[in-house]
Amino acid sequence: MTKIKKGIILSGGSGTRMYPMTSALSKQFLPIFDKPMIYYPLTTLMESGINDILVICNRDDLTLFNKLLGSGNQWGINISYEVQENPNGIAEAFIIGEKFIQNDNVALILGDNIIYGSSVKKTLSSLASNHHGASIFGYEVSDPERYGVAGFDEKGLLESIEEKPKNPKSNFAITGLYFYESEVIDVAKGLKPSKRGELEITDINNYFLQKKKLNFNKFDLGSAWLDAGTSSSLLSASEFISTLQERQGILIGSPELAALENKWINEDDIKSFFGLKIKSNYTNQIL
Ligand code: G1P
Repeated sequence: MTKIKKGIILSGGSGTRMYPMTSALSKQFLPIFDKPMIYYPLTTLMESGINDILVICNRDDLTLFNKLLGSGNQWGINISYEVQENPNGIAEAFIIGEKFIQNDNVALILGDNIIYGSSVKKTLSSLASNHHGASIFGYEVSDPERYGVAGFDEKGLLESIEEKPKNPKSNFAITGLYFYESEVIDVAKGLKPSKRGELEITDINNYFLQKKKLNFNKFDLGSAWLDAGTSSSLLSASEFISTLQERQGILIGSPELAALENKWINEDDIKSFFGLKIKSNYTNQIL
């Protein structure tokens, strides 16, 4: 059992479901209320204690991602970049990320997944602090057929995961956050493309399930899992974040606050990074 310090954010994909918004840049740059979408999965990884991050993106977006996130030094973390040349599927992230992962445990989060909740934060950081095998996270939804879906046996134990099934076995969708030991690289290399021509993350999870090394966790309904992969879910996510932030006077999905909480940086670091020039609603809530 070892701590997870490395995480991958997969921000590739063709974004066709959100055309024309995504014709010039990837959806992960689009705003969820007051921040770019990728801030949320980045913050989730940081809140789990992960400070070495690989962003996998389309070649065209490399310069922009560098401009947005840089080296990570401003948050006391390390951010590096790799390109996914074609939308070959989520599982390809482990092949592209082989050199980055080496022999370590690794987390993967999809660049359009927004996960929120105090219990979530605790679950993730405690799991990441002592991990083995594979861990996935389920969340109850009304439209499971859009996702990877969990099937349970009569004892309530996970027995199957199906990708976008026509007849879902449960309402538990598998969220786009995954923790794995480094064996995942070889598992990914052994996969064959699915009918939709992609290396499926669900096939990786079924591999670990068969090996009895898959740990299934449920996010409770007091937490929130949103995927902002369509125009209407993008708007709902923005409304959700804005409502919660304004009502509770908090900032969700802030790498600065996650870095401060982890003591990876201090307030002076933030002040010197933003300087006197940048004044926005966002910076006002941090400084
Ligand atoms: C992907 C995965 C699916 C998972 C979902 C979470 O779906 O294939 O198993 O439930 O992410 O966002 P996709 O984004 O490819 O439709």
